[in-house]
Amino acid sequence: MAKKVRVGIVGLGFGAEFIPIYQRHPDAEMYAICRRDRAELDACGDRFGVEKRYTSFEEMIADPDLDAVHINTPIADHAPQAIAALRAGKHVASTVPAATSIDECRQLVEAQRASGKVYMMMETVVYSREYLFVKELYDKGELGRIQFLRGSHQQDMEGWPSYWEGFPPMHYATHCVSPCLALLGKHAESVVCHGSGRIDESLIPKYGSPFAIETATFKLRDSDVCAEVTRSLFNTARQYRESFDVYGSKKSFEWQQIEGEDPVIHTKSTKEHPLSEAEIPQRVQVPDYAHLLPESIRMFTQPSAIQDADHLSFLQGGGHGGSHPHLVHNFLQAVLGRQPAMPDVETSVNWTMVGICAHESALKGGARIEIPRF
Ligand SMILES: NC(=O)c1ccc[n+]([C@@H]2O[C@H](COP(=O)([O-])OP(=O)(O)OC[C@H]3O[C@@H](n4cnc5c(N)ncnc54)[C@H](O)[C@@H]3O)[C@@H](O)[C@H]2O)c1
Repeated sequence: MAKKVRVGIVGLGFGAEFIPIYQRHPDAEMYAICRRDRAELDACGDRFGVEKRYTSFEEMIADPDLDAVHINTPIADHAPQAIAALRAGKHVASTVPAATSIDECRQLVEAQRASGKVYMMMETVVYSREYLFVKELYDKGELGRIQFLRGSHQQDMEGWPSYWEGFPPMHYATHCVSPCLALLGKHAESVVCHGSGRIDESLIPKYGSPFAIETATFKLRDSDVCAEVTRSLFNTARQYRESFDVYGSKKSFEWQQIEGEDPVIHTKSTKEHPLSEAEIPQRVQVPDYAHLLPESIRMFTQPSAIQDADHLSFLQGGGHGGSHPHLVHNFLQAVLGRQPAMPDVETSVNWTMVGICAHESALKGGARIEIPRF
């Protein structure tokens, strides 16, 4: 492989946000883009100066000069495209979730092992500044023993493209599942989930999923810790929230209630360091983790820098907790063999299967479902 990784991006809605990051990363060549609509493809290619353009994903992955594919197509395409790209000998970065069925998860693991190429699910939350902050606290021992974890991801998807209508909430659960598992470096073993409430009747038939909210508890393998996650997509009033809370024996971290507030750290009162009730919770400003990145892409952790930069004003501010440049950097380092992918394929499918098995549990009235291992 050439020293620079030649990357092709498929899906240019959310996917286009990654183009300028690859273009500025010292280890990457932003080589090709792909979407089916020729006019939209050319508009994107002209905007960013990407010459190699494909309207067919199959043709792109047959290109011998391409090293790696970053998939940002609608959910049902993620696993089939990732499996095809691995079989074509390409490294794969895939947006979340990795797959929509257990069988696809198994095929993904098999395809990655047979190819020996990198597979990494591009989970934004585990590279967000909040997650990196909590992980640092945990690694330094400041949280003490982890006693419980909680994630939630609530979004009002009314008016989004039709493939979202009635989508089972737990089939897109990786944003709330992943921080709970990544913090302790564990996989999930089994899950129990309840469906609650009911979405509009017209939304139900496509996926046969009636629930407004799905809420699950899952057990971590080789651990006494349990985690709980909640998801909603339709007919539920809540500002967008992608959050996690971590309860430790010394300190706990709680996500802010409303966007724009600072999160809270609760400190345990002890005989040696007694605290009043009012002193226990303290709001905390989460630092930036741009220093972990090559200098040329640090700007992408900052919403204001992105908006100021030439022709980048369409990008979402700060890219999901400043995660986008971290994802690009970590994927490229894995492709270059400098570190393992995080998450690797087994972890990516475990995070994804918590949601798939949770929805199965909800449909079975809360039955415990074992999460398969491959
Ligand atoms: N935080 C996150 O991790 C995050 C945030 C936003 C979106 N996403 C994920 O990214 C994906 C894309 O989201 P979006 O909002 O841009 O969706 P979208 O439907 O607006 O865009 C999908 C893009 O893929 C293209 N496409 C679809 N099928 C294709 C095919 N077979 N070949 C080539 N191109 C094809 C479309 O033309 C379009 O450019 C979704 O799966 C979504 O879940 C993740």
